Amino acid sequence: MPDDKNISKSSADNNAPLGNTSVVRVSAPATVANLVCGFDILGMALNDPQDLMEVRLLAEPVIKIKHADDYDLPVEPERNVAGAALIALQEAYEKKVGFEVLVNKSIKPGSGLGSSAASSAGAVVAANYLLGNIFSKPDLVRFAMNGEKVASGVKHADNLAPCIYGGITLIRSILPLDIIPLSAPPLHVTVVHPQIEVKTSDARQILRKEVQLKSAIMQWGNIAGLVTGLLKNDYELIGRSLEDVIIEPVRSILIPGFDEVKINSKEAGALGGGISGSGPSIFMLSKEEETARKVETIMKNVFQKIGVEFRTYVTFINQTGVKLMPGE
Ligand code: HSE
Repeated sequence: MPDDKNISKSSADNNAPLGNTSVVRVSAPATVANLVCGFDILGMALNDPQDLMEVRLLAEPVIKIKHADDYDLPVEPERNVAGAALIALQEAYEKKVGFEVLVNKSIKPGSGLGSSAASSAGAVVAANYLLGNIFSKPDLVRFAMNGEKVASGVKHADNLAPCIYGGITLIRSILPLDIIPLSAPPLHVTVVHPQIEVKTSDARQILRKEVQLKSAIMQWGNIAGLVTGLLKNDYELIGRSLEDVIIEPVRSILIPGFDEVKINSKEAGALGGGISGSGPSIFMLSKEEETARKVETIMKNVFQKIGVEFRTYVTFINQTGVKLMPGE
């Protein structure tokens, strides 16, 4: 779990709280969007890394953003992903309240691990708690998508839905929003985050706008196979469905060592994997923890050889999503 020592730095605000609880702390998990073949429609929450946030209810209808980390993210609410998400929630609440947010990020922006989604989702889940949980999970995803729009120019929910619901989610549709939580067998997840930044907006810009029918057929075969494999606990089917013939061939060019990590990890027994979200992180799924650890060694070897700084995680699927911190 991330260190939460800086969260308590938040100073008390002069604004009187409206409810019984005026402040709440939450943790918000990293997420792997796309799950290889499901561009913009599948996502999975990870147990590690997680962001920490403290959200305080204010009587006056303002949004204040503060950071307890070193990422130098914007503090103007309209330019900040948590701020944009809270503005949408605040409007739905007819602007009767405000919020002060202190963000302490462990999920590095531009990592492909759903950093912006964690901030947006954490903010709206915490704010909703302070208002007595009046909004539904789909409402929260809708509000938080305004944060994703700030981050990438596009409203997508494949990081937000797993971040808020936990587990693996299918976003069958954005308009109208239709989120389906999927069951899955136990899976170990190994992630390598090369310390290069790939902006989601850039990684979307380079994609081809049209898809060949034969590629589409392969892709929807894999998506259907992956969903079926997850629901039936069929590891073999999950493994052979983790293929992406549309997005990965374009985006993987931005990630040094990608092919080597993928090929060597599968040879070591991983079920499969690919780019996490828009990259540059790469994730691999394994049935056994021992395999997940071997995959970590493979990832370390590849990036040490290339000479790119990196960080690895050996983790598992987070089933709870954004969580209230103990003591609140
Ligand atoms: N589905 C989005 C993309 C996720 O791949 O662009 C971004 O994190």
